[in-house]
Amino acid sequence: MVRRGLTLFALASLLAGCGRAEPGDDQPASGATPYVKAHSLQQLMATVMEPDAQVFWHSAGTVSDSGGTRDLTPTTPEGWTAAQSAAATVAETGNLLLTPIYSKDRGPDWIEFAQNLVRAGKQAETATIARDGEAMFETGARLSEACSACHQAYLPQEQAAKADSGQ
Ligand code: HEC
Repeated sequence: MVRRGLTLFALASLLAGCGRAEPGDDQPASGATPYVKAHSLQQLMATVMEPDAQVFWHSAGTVSDSGGTRDLTPTTPEGWTAAQSAAATVAETGNLLLTPIYSKDRGPDWIEFAQNLVRAGKQAETATIARDGEAMFETGARLSEACSACHQAYLPQEQAAKADSGQ
């Protein structure tokens, strides 16, 4: 019985200690979130940002080809969900750009560009929730501007044009 009591006491002090870890206690320094970098910026752009932005852009406005002009606005619940999810992913990828993983050593304009992308992505998502095709077209343009603004500032001109070429 005594032994058991002691063990519980030891466990309680251990748990209490966990909440008060100081830097140097083999814990990350206070304020440092232990992010795990899973993609280079180039990979993030190519495999998350670009494909999701494309899903949204292909769900807004019209397209004209030899078959005539087609309205791209979703017509099924699945289509609306896909457009909403794509806009939400772009917005949250903008938030990811704000984390130290991608914002470390960038200028304050990086923060502004990424925040503008989050806002544009959120507006795009709101337009899908409202099932508002007109607003989707407008926010799609705003989204495109938010991508280009950062590319213009951070990439050599030719590379920026390439990064924007799918829009
Ligand atoms: C805050 C800055 C920033 C924003 C916002 C941004 N990008 Fe980028 N993007 C970059 C940088 C920097 C690169 C160059 C990455 C590299 O090659 O290391 C890049 C590269 C790219 C590339 C080229 C990837 C490749 O295969 O080389 C594409 C495509 C791209 N971005 C798409 C987008 C789209 C679409 C958006 C908006 C929905 C967007 N980006 C928003 C900074 C940004």
